[in-house]
Amino acid sequence: MEKNKKTRREFVKQSSLLAGSLITFPALANNSLFNTAIDNTIKVALVGCGGRGTGAAMQAMLTKQNVKLVAMADAFKGRLDDCLKSLSADDSKVKNRVAVPEENRFVGFDAYKKAIPLADVVILATPPGFRPMHFEEAVQQGKQIFMEKPVATDPAGVKRVLDAAEIAKKKKLNVVVGLQRHYQSSYRALYKMFDAGLIGNIVSAQAWWNDSGVWVNPRKPGQTEMEYQMRNWYYFNWICGDHIVEQHIHNIDVVNWFKGGYPVKAQGMGGREVRKGKEFGEIFDHHYVEFQYADGAILNSQCRHIKGTYSRVDEQIVGTSGTIFGAAKKIVDRSGNVIFQFEKANENDPYQTEHDELFEAIAKGEYKFADAENAAKSTMTAILGRLATYSGEMVEFDKALNSGLSIAPATFDWNAAPPVLPDKDGWYPIAVPGVTKFFS
Ligand SMILES: NC(=O)c1ccc[n+]([C@@H]2O[C@H](COP(=O)([O-])OP(=O)(O)OC[C@H]3O[C@@H](n4cnc5c(N)ncnc54)[C@H](O)[C@@H]3O)[C@@H](O)[C@H]2O)c1
Repeated sequence: MEKNKKTRREFVKQSSLLAGSLITFPALANNSLFNTAIDNTIKVALVGCGGRGTGAAMQAMLTKQNVKLVAMADAFKGRLDDCLKSLSADDSKVKNRVAVPEENRFVGFDAYKKAIPLADVVILATPPGFRPMHFEEAVQQGKQIFMEKPVATDPAGVKRVLDAAEIAKKKKLNVVVGLQRHYQSSYRALYKMFDAGLIGNIVSAQAWWNDSGVWVNPRKPGQTEMEYQMRNWYYFNWICGDHIVEQHIHNIDVVNWFKGGYPVKAQGMGGREVRKGKEFGEIFDHHYVEFQYADGAILNSQCRHIKGTYSRVDEQIVGTSGTIFGAAKKIVDRSGNVIFQFEKANENDPYQTEHDELFEAIAKGEYKFADAENAAKSTMTAILGRLATYSGEMVEFDKALNSGLSIAPATFDWNAAPPVLPDKDGWYPIAVPGVTKFFS
């Protein structure tokens, strides 16, 4: 027990989760990478101006610091324009903080390269297939970073993020990742209770992301295949990673956090029960994965996109003397008595807290956040789940991570061929367990 506790603490320290309360870092006040010497304005560039990018930019500008949005980048002009319109609308709370002249609005696959140099802080909120490339660039340019989860869609991408995370640490660049449960008061309180020993040692866990699925943008005449896939990114693994990676990562990551490590192997099952049409690209509509940690503890994870079925987004962590219920924000003992209940009235908005804490650290010249390594390894855990359900085989974490497996396109161009193409009738190849092989 004492040994386990130590491992847990070391893990939290290494990944710098909740680092603000655990580690004191040297101040960065004189760091030449941080460019606010002339006034106290913190300049932000937004890369990926969709739903989450718009929200994250808003949250950055709602912090107490003097934050200005100065540059924007998106693959599509229409998405950038809509985002800018919404942030600078008459009723927008942040309209006075939006300062993006025409020449700082960049469109296309290389837009990120032009926007990043103009800022102190970059928000990376495209779909995850582009994250390794964008994160590498932001780190190389010495920027402070907020990036959304997941951080990759394949093992090669995870490796790139891990390598860039090391460089970010050496450069003392704050990196916050949008696995927002780490910034949510109830989860922080549950972790504190867990760390104090309230449930003993973890023996198993369950995680769920079961809901009804997402949008489809119908194919339009004249669209290249690359544009079609970019507009329907959720259904293509090179951009999205499948929904086990794209959404269920949140719950898998919570279990990794409390467990203090990552699974060593996984096997599972999945398929397409209702995603029958061509418009659903190549992803499954359900996955059920048994992840095994080094000490034998099992995480049973399930995610489903099927309307009209049992809906639940949650985690349950079972210990030797109690069980944590994530969504219900409570802990019960082995007899079912509630031994801790987080008051719902005390809950925060974790999306806002991520930015409040990041920008406060930046304004103070402090180095507090190094979320990228954990985010990369939790992303890898979810990818491991996908490899397991697609192949039907037992897949090992280290073997998969070190495999070099890449599903990224060779070229990013509207006329280039994406890595997965439809057949002559418009059907995309779909994994078949027992037939699809990755490493054997
Ligand atoms: N933490 C959370 O709870 C949460 C919630 C929603 C979304 N997200 C994450 O945010 C990311 C974006 O999701 P979303 O819902 O905003 O999707 P979205 O489709 O609304 O927005 C994505 C935007 O990125 C743009 N884009 C795509 N490729 C690009 C590229 N190479 N360069 C520049 N721009 C590019 C798209 O045109 C689009 O405007 C995803 O990784 C998603 O998982 C996180």
